[in-house]
Amino acid sequence: MSESTTIRWEQDETGVVTLVLDDPNQSANTMNQAFRASITAIADRAEAEKDSIRGIVYTSAKKTFFAGGDLKDMIKAGPEDAQAIFESALEMKRALRRIETLGKPVVAAINGAALGGGYEIALASHHRVALDAPGSKIGLPEVTLGLLPGGGGVARTVRLMGITDALLKVLLQGTQYNPKRALDNGLVHELAATPEEMLAKARAFIDAHPESQQPWDVPGYKIPGGTPSNPRFAANLPAFPANLRKQLNGAPYPAPRNIMAAAVEGSQVDFETALTIESRYFTELVVGQTAKNMIQAFFFDLQAVNSGANRPQGIAPRKVRRVAVLGAGMMGAGIAYSCARAGIEVVLKDVSAESAAKGKAYSEKLCAKAVAKGRTTQEKADALLALITPTGDVADLAGCDAVIEAVFEDTALKHKVFQEIQHVVEPDALLCSNTSTLPITVLAEGVERQADFIGLHFFSPVDKMPLVEIIKGGRTGDEALARAFDLVRQINKTPIVVNDSRGFFTSRVIGHFINEGVAMIGEGAEPASVEQAAAQAGYPAKVLSLMDELTLTLPRKIRNETRKAVEEAGGTWTSHPGELVIDRMVDEFGRTGRSGGAGFYDYAEDGRRGKLWPGLREHFTKPGTDIPFRDMQERMLFAEALDTVRLVEEGVLTSVADANIGSILGIGFPAWTGGVLQYVNGYEGGVAGFVARARELAATYGERFTPPALLVEKAERGEVFTDAAS
Ligand code: NAI
Repeated sequence: MSESTTIRWEQDETGVVTLVLDDPNQSANTMNQAFRASITAIADRAEAEKDSIRGIVYTSAKKTFFAGGDLKDMIKAGPEDAQAIFESALEMKRALRRIETLGKPVVAAINGAALGGGYEIALASHHRVALDAPGSKIGLPEVTLGLLPGGGGVARTVRLMGITDALLKVLLQGTQYNPKRALDNGLVHELAATPEEMLAKARAFIDAHPESQQPWDVPGYKIPGGTPSNPRFAANLPAFPANLRKQLNGAPYPAPRNIMAAAVEGSQVDFETALTIESRYFTELVVGQTAKNMIQAFFFDLQAVNSGANRPQGIAPRKVRRVAVLGAGMMGAGIAYSCARAGIEVVLKDVSAESAAKGKAYSEKLCAKAVAKGRTTQEKADALLALITPTGDVADLAGCDAVIEAVFEDTALKHKVFQEIQHVVEPDALLCSNTSTLPITVLAEGVERQADFIGLHFFSPVDKMPLVEIIKGGRTGDEALARAFDLVRQINKTPIVVNDSRGFFTSRVIGHFINEGVAMIGEGAEPASVEQAAAQAGYPAKVLSLMDELTLTLPRKIRNETRKAVEEAGGTWTSHPGELVIDRMVDEFGRTGRSGGAGFYDYAEDGRRGKLWPGLREHFTKPGTDIPFRDMQERMLFAEALDTVRLVEEGVLTSVADANIGSILGIGFPAWTGGVLQYVNGYEGGVAGFVARARELAATYGERFTPPALLVEKAERGEVFTDAAS
């Protein structure tokens, strides 16, 4: 019998065995080789000592119950590891299954987060009691990493709640529930307010159910809601993949497809076979590229970015207490709400008290909605709103230790508002501008303390968008950068850090996506195909509809300013073919986008988007234009990736993780790629394959696809984009 090194066996005099998950080598328990061996050893011992056991309780000695799979191992797995992965997944599942079917009651006392593998251990228990701890999360988020729950999670949720609920509530979205919502949705059986109560409830279950077994092990059990062998269910079955395709818009995410197949196929066979089917689909995902991309981005890169890999070292963390938000328009109103939600006092200043009050009304609306939906209480909403003071009077900004400016996009106006307030706020207040395009170094010239001036670029709608791009100006000090970073974390957003440049990273790169999509209209492509190409490449917003949202006049304005700056600096400006289309749309047809009531799409009176404007086909489409669909998609993806590489070359971007996370969370670069530089790394044939394809695109569609020198060098040296010290 092998030994359990990560699970402690604690048996009391009444025969209740508590299995304490406690890996001595990790701060949180994750599923690795030691855990798999331990579970097998525990199953052996439980079988050998069965007669002395009255019941079993799983719990953890860590803050979290169990953190999930070992992603460090998974990201390295290649096709040659497939058999070993398949077998070790099965080994772990068999051990859990042996404990589950021992004939003794098994309870999970979930003392903290139980995500992925952790919740799968809980699912292998007959009863689940969760500690109602703040911040605790329960669920199977594997799909968000391009994986499926390979520890019995598919087989058991399907049997617990039926195929449809398992797919919709747990598996396909990867929703992470707080304990209360986990209870409401049937993921756990009861909650406990304290650890003592949790263990007492676990024992009470054992006392009351000495013969307990899983519902699916009771003879005659049927999966709730039916299975494909039931004719009524079978009649609905074809709608499943169709709905999924619709939901994914044709984007290349293999995980949802595998999850659905494992759920449906597994529902038609016995439990053991279902576990094998699940392991097969799991293995296919683990050895594939998409899971590697998504694990890299959503686990490793996100962690690096949020933990401050890019924050200057040695500067003590500081919290903002009272922030001045200048400009209560769309962005200022959202910024005020996000700050107040994090408990920061906000003074929201506009040209008059009335306009400032309009900005606060936005928070009132969001709060009312949250209360109506049960996401917060009236008391909490009132407390949030009490933190926001709208004003038209500069004097009210006294005592603010940070300023976030969001007035109109105009350098002179921005200089003026900073001049007005710089001696009113605290003498060392952090000074931030939410400009989306204006150089920070130039804006900083409007204040006396240039070292304290920094760009804090939020995305719209601020309350929903998780990213903030921090822009370090030419004279910004490290202290300001550290404080800006801390402020972004304080409001629970993800900060990326870039150096100053026109359009920074996000605004500049998204411009290439749009220009490329629009250029295809100019070449005569079918507008609906261009939209479909973006959707099927995995972009959350189709290119022409995004253009309409941003307005067609905005890129024109930015382009003209950039062109002027380039020419003044002695450079030459190369027009992008997309620009001509935008110019014609605005000048010839007066279509400026959604806010103007007409753009690439038609809009109803109330602003609802209608159909693509038929005039596009009349004025631009050339029948017979044949841009291969893959080229359409790759032109958009490559245009963004190539410009990102240029930004690395120019020193605007200094972190690969920032580029990847910023591209996904800020500008909708498809998540399956793992982010814009991971897309280059993971392209078929690696960086060299990407370079070869860029050259092909350059030969067919223009010089702008010529790979930059840095990329060619990387390909020649066999390197990838990484932050890891080489
Ligand atoms: P907006 O037009 O909705 O709001 C601007 C607000 O500034 C108005 O309420 C106006 O009354 C106020 N304002 C003008 N002069 C002022 C003064 N002297 N003192 C106080 N308030 C004054 O504009 P929006 O969209 O909120 O943009 C604000 C800034 O954020 C701009 O720099 C913009 O480039 C930037 N930004 C905009 C994004 C967007 O998606 N709209 C995204 C990221 C940044």
